Amino acid sequence: MIRRSVFLVLLACLSFFSCKTSQKNQQALPGINPYRYSSTKKVIAENGAVVSAHPLASKVGIEILKQGGNAIDAAIATQLALAVVYPNAGNLGGGGFMVARLSNGQLIALDYREKAPAAAHRDMYIDPDGTARTDKSQDGHLSSGVPGTIAGLFASHKYGKLPFEKLIQPAIELAEKGFSISEREARSLNSLQDDLKKLNTVMPVFVKENPIAIGWKAGDTLVQTDLANTLKRIKEKGQAGFYEGETAKLIVEEMKRGQGIIRHEDLKNYQAKFRDPHSFSYKGYQIVGMPMPSSGGLLLNQMMTMIEDRNIGSMGFHSVQAVQLMTEVERRAFADRAEYMGDADFYKVPVAMLAGKAYLQERMKNYDPAKATPSTEIKPGVLSAAESTETTHLSVIDKDGNAVAVTTTLNNSYGSRTVVGGAGFFLNDEMDDFSIKPGVPNMYGAVGGEANAIQPGKRMLSSMTPTIVLKDDKPFIVVGTPGGTTIPTQIFQTLVNILEFNMSTGDAVYKPKFHHQWLPDEVVIEKGFSITVKEAMQKMGYTFSKERSGIGRTEIIKVLPDGKFEAVADNRGEDAAEGY
Ligand code: DON
Repeated sequence: MIRRSVFLVLLACLSFFSCKTSQKNQQALPGINPYRYSSTKKVIAENGAVVSAHPLASKVGIEILKQGGNAIDAAIATQLALAVVYPNAGNLGGGGFMVARLSNGQLIALDYREKAPAAAHRDMYIDPDGTARTDKSQDGHLSSGVPGTIAGLFASHKYGKLPFEKLIQPAIELAEKGFSISEREARSLNSLQDDLKKLNTVMPVFVKENPIAIGWKAGDTLVQTDLANTLKRIKEKGQAGFYEGETAKLIVEEMKRGQGIIRHEDLKNYQAKFRDPHSFSYKGYQIVGMPMPSSGGLLLNQMMTMIEDRNIGSMGFHSVQAVQLMTEVERRAFADRAEYMGDADFYKVPVAMLAGKAYLQERMKNYDPAKATPSTEIKPGVLSAAESTETTHLSVIDKDGNAVAVTTTLNNSYGSRTVVGGAGFFLNDEMDDFSIKPGVPNMYGAVGGEANAIQPGKRMLSSMTPTIVLKDDKPFIVVGTPGGTTIPTQIFQTLVNILEFNMSTGDAVYKPKFHHQWLPDEVVIEKGFSITVKEAMQKMGYTFSKERSGIGRTEIIKVLPDGKFEAVADNRGEDAAEGY
């Protein structure tokens, strides 16, 4: 009798657990198990490839391609999935840029960067005594610009093939049913707890009451019901499901509770903008990048043009000569960024002159291969007329030759760290990318002035550099990375590694990076960077900052000579490459 009841209890337990497990094993999408997944760093594929910061998001993108979507569809679905599974940077409450080359040869640059709200003004972060309040431009309600992501996704969708409802469904399921978090994600959420409690008016789902003792741990399921409901409103009502109605109401209420300034009119008026891509040639390749309000395309152009006739390929990868030359061109380009670059809708950026060959040759006149040029001697060029950090990049390509590079961000990790109460998503802290006071560095140490001063409706200057390289007019490389001001210099290095040092795609991404941005006058290096090179450059007068443990998370696709796609995900994070 006792034996029988023990057996029955056991049976009941077993069926309870198997029921829990089968519930867990329910798949958000065919072929994807959000509770059990791993990341692949490199794939060779024939029909399409997606590389992003999260394995589940890359898988979602590939499923969309398999279901007949094109690279634009896959990029949209991947971004929406990232908004759920990678809340550090994937977002509904941020903004981004898309550079694409369509199968018919058309080049596209789409700007869905955040904007300053109507009530913003130039001195909004300066106290009466002149103190610049970076705490306010970097954290909490006042640090947020008007989000652009959803407008961007809908604008890009005109080039997609599948209905938007299909692209958003995986994100809804991931938010509603949850997904298993990794150890790294658990650590990241645990380290966020104090900020979350301080900066939120309604405690979001990411808050655990006692993170030290209990906390998040690897394997926990993160269910985001409020976010799922927001996504459902977008699915049902389109762009208006975010910028109007219930979601807009929740955003404005959140703003009012936290002394933020985004209002209904700001949301309703937000529009993504198609712009002419910033395109230039380098030794027969066409490099297509983002124009203002991102400095990325122009900086990359300046740096590549300044090295173009200096035969860097013969100097060798990470030779003192090559690193010194690249450092000096980075310094000069960033001096121009500080003075001349900002939202071209508000400030006349002299792009053609800054990118001119003669101008750039003139910039290199005082270049000395034997010693450092101090930044005090490098002023922004004289014209003939008067980035912890988290952003995220995804690269996608399909069998028809559509190639998409998207970099999107909340600014630093989890943005303002304020979650819209009841709507479940983080808001950005992108206002800090403006020059909040002339000469006061932003969180990436970048300085600026008039060109990037705050004005209502203006977009803050970015460094994001989603890039497509064309060879014989066909996509050759699709690349991008997070990393604040290190973004353009990282892309510069990755491209030089491939185009000049003939490095494998993996090495081009994984080898240690370095960075110079004019001010502060120091070379930033990544862990593993050659000590010999460092010491040789110190003798030439260079100052090095403290080593960084990781610079960026590059996601790249290269088209191989046989037409196959080589997709490589950065090994600095849990980034994943998928293909089929
Ligand atoms: O737009 C920009 O330049 C910055 N908001 C990007 C921030 C970033 O890359 C942080 N990630 N590492």
